[in-house]
Amino acid sequence: MTSAPTRPAAQPATGTDPLQLIDVDHVQFYVGNAKQAAFFYAQCFGFQIEQVSDLTTGCRDASHYLLTQGNIRFILTSALTPEHPAAMECAMYGDGVKDVAFTVFDAEKAWERAVQNGATSAYAPRTYRDEHGSVTMAGIRTYGRVCHSFVSRTGAYDLVNVKKGGTFKPRFRRLDQIAGPTGKSVLAVNDHNRKHPCGLKYVDHLVGNVELGKMNYWVAFYENVLEFTMFKHFDDKDISTEYSALMSKVMASGNNLIKMPINEPAAGKKKSQVQEYLDWHQNTPGVQHLALRTDDELHSIAALRARGVDFLTLPDAYYDKVWERVDKMLTAHGHTPVREDHDRVKDLGILVDADDEGYLLQLFTKPLQDRPTLFFEIICRRGSQSFGKGNFKALFEALELEQERRGNL
Ligand code: FE2
Repeated sequence: MTSAPTRPAAQPATGTDPLQLIDVDHVQFYVGNAKQAAFFYAQCFGFQIEQVSDLTTGCRDASHYLLTQGNIRFILTSALTPEHPAAMECAMYGDGVKDVAFTVFDAEKAWERAVQNGATSAYAPRTYRDEHGSVTMAGIRTYGRVCHSFVSRTGAYDLVNVKKGGTFKPRFRRLDQIAGPTGKSVLAVNDHNRKHPCGLKYVDHLVGNVELGKMNYWVAFYENVLEFTMFKHFDDKDISTEYSALMSKVMASGNNLIKMPINEPAAGKKKSQVQEYLDWHQNTPGVQHLALRTDDELHSIAALRARGVDFLTLPDAYYDKVWERVDKMLTAHGHTPVREDHDRVKDLGILVDADDEGYLLQLFTKPLQDRPTLFFEIICRRGSQSFGKGNFKALFEALELEQERRGNL
């Protein structure tokens, strides 16, 4: 296993390396009904429904909603015509992640370099421009139907301005530009979320499920095309129960801004969770989960539970052993013990794990849509840069129970 120091951070504006990633620009989802999905993610996860691009802004083939929280930007897209690709993809795969877009210094140069490195183009560079500035985007394909867009921004559309509430792209408008009768945001949910934040900060990692035998192909893709390096790997001995297993390799961008674990199913007595995903995703690879980072796991999980988020449940017996396991690891490496209240961790059903660098707290939602495909992880790192390996077994047993309930084990 390899490891490297990490800390996602904005990069200085040098721009000499075309594939230097500045930030996760946004994650785009294709959804069946963006207007309704926006309220689901706002009500349940505390996102601001910030901007929209739709018929009212001259966008006639799809609606796009920009949802924000901390440094997380989601674009929820649904088709307005049968020809828009979101129509077919939602019919085939259900709601899911379409694009993991990276901010770069020059989108065209990044795209050219990636294509030279062997990528297949998803779409050629295009620039959206008005009197306030420009946004240039170009895309490459990755596993399944997912793509990576490169995004470079100028003027009012610079990411620094977008983070302060500036317009995301030409043909987007802020939803609170129309003041309600009280002068507040037109969306009460936005006011509520500002007063009652859930504390989600940024995308920590994003996991892809690929077919049996394809993990190393996609590892090589991220190495060759995006010039990522392998951060960690886990085999089926690390991630298995009596019944099912998977293998995983974690790819990281050069500055560790983003980590992208890639999973493939492994042989077991019963069906791997990765295979269940593929079965309900037209045997097409895709994004399995998005890990959202918080600085206060207890606060975030309590807030999300109060809003009705459905999390995986672990047996109480998990907490009989977890503190001994975690404290032993932390003591062995000279780290202070877990500072969060142990009873509250248990009451909130949060998972804990430790490695040589510290500990982490994590919890996984149940699927976010009817198909057992995409889910979220809420993660808080206290030194640990790992992925909760010590929880894999307990977690997989909990997942298998859910698979069993769905008739998919
Ligand atoms: Fe994860």
